[in-house]
Amino acid sequence: MPFGDLSNVKEITNEFGETLIRVDGDIPADLPVSDGQRFLFISYDQSKYSHGIHKYPAKFFPELPRWLINRYSQPNDLILDPFAGSATTNIEALLLNRNSVAIDVDPFAKYLAKVKTIPIDKFELNKTVDRILKQLVTFNPKMVESKDIPEFPYRENWFAKEILLELTFIKKVILNSTNDNKIKNLCLISMSSVIRAVSNADDNCTRTVVRKKLNKEIYPSFALTKFAENLIINSYRINDFTNRFNTNATLEIPDGNDARFLTYPDNHFDLAITSPPYANAVDYPRTHQLEMYWLGLANGSLSKLKETHIGTEVVMVNEYKQLHKIGEESADKKIEAIYKLDPRRAYIAYKYIYDMTLNMKEVYRVLKPGGRYIIVVGNNRIKGELFESWKYLMRLSENIGYKVENYFGSEIIKHFIKVPREERINTDWIIVLKK
Ligand SMILES: C[S@@+](CC[C@H](N)C(=O)[O-])C[C@H]1O[C@@H](n2cnc3c(N)ncnc32)[C@H](O)[C@@H]1O
Repeated sequence: MPFGDLSNVKEITNEFGETLIRVDGDIPADLPVSDGQRFLFISYDQSKYSHGIHKYPAKFFPELPRWLINRYSQPNDLILDPFAGSATTNIEALLLNRNSVAIDVDPFAKYLAKVKTIPIDKFELNKTVDRILKQLVTFNPKMVESKDIPEFPYRENWFAKEILLELTFIKKVILNSTNDNKIKNLCLISMSSVIRAVSNADDNCTRTVVRKKLNKEIYPSFALTKFAENLIINSYRINDFTNRFNTNATLEIPDGNDARFLTYPDNHFDLAITSPPYANAVDYPRTHQLEMYWLGLANGSLSKLKETHIGTEVVMVNEYKQLHKIGEESADKKIEAIYKLDPRRAYIAYKYIYDMTLNMKEVYRVLKPGGRYIIVVGNNRIKGELFESWKYLMRLSENIGYKVENYFGSEIIKHFIKVPREERINTDWIIVLKK
């Protein structure tokens, strides 16, 4: 978009009579922004390039990191996303010729991030896809031996027998289809992308749960056909990414890092952009448990993994017996109000803010002087109490040494419906902190 072109930007009034700035598509790098202003960003690129390869809860819409990268960095700069999830920031960084690092504690996130950010030779990919599709049509349940079906808790509860056989067959066909690990992983992620839909679990819930009331119908061959469909679509998506990939920029997805403890030196990064988990909202290990079982990333209890997640619900009774204070007045008032209703939830909320403070300190350490940390975070409700994470984090950031340069809202479009304001997680807040 040419510098100064604001033709896709206009002022609108929403159904509550509030003024918002609506931006359609790419956000102009020099968009004027004032403190507290709210925007309605309309995204067209959610599935563009490799972004649409797999669902991921609370994923960025690509125009947002693209805009922040353009606005706050230069080509060849080094960018950090300490809660990278499905790597939306990193895909955009690569396509804008910026080096980047993707940190996440979740093995599924790291696996997905790798697949989405590695270009693939189109010719080899097409040959493999062809080979796989030809094999799929030969499927006969007798071709699968029970002993080859992966073992995991409540397997028969999650999947119909015929689906277990089909998925086992698909996985075997993929593993034998090519020696190229990049291609193999794309195919495995394509298998993963159909798992929720072909399981007995509700497709439209971040938690993995079977709801009898849904009467979800699963037919034989469902896994085979859905997988074939997604494999073809995903090969187009990765080709689209590969065609746009024309850079020497690098991406690291290191192991052994946590958003609170980074193995990077002081004053290392030019910019950090992230959306951390919400307090007490998405249980990522539970969301992807079936996918992880099939990919061989987990096979039993998820509690060890859950403990590493910020916002976790895995807490000990002796931790939440007494009230904890974080040292920021409005957060402490809110934690106290929740404590009166539910001490456990109060501790989860406190721990979330505490862990996010550790993260903000750690990012401060690794940012170059003058570098920015941009955090996109919403509010949510805990025991009916409005928990305004973004405000608490913004105020606490000043104790660490950051200067709050700017803060503004981005309406979440799927919640743009007529329900009382307080009942929605309706706005993500973008806080721009400067070291
Ligand atoms: C809101 S998601 C990020 C989504 C991402 N912006 C995207 O576009 O896909 C938050 C992520 O934080 C990760 N996470 C939770 N606790 C973490 C920790 N201690 N260190 C690093 N990542 C963590 C979760 O696994 C999840 O992927």
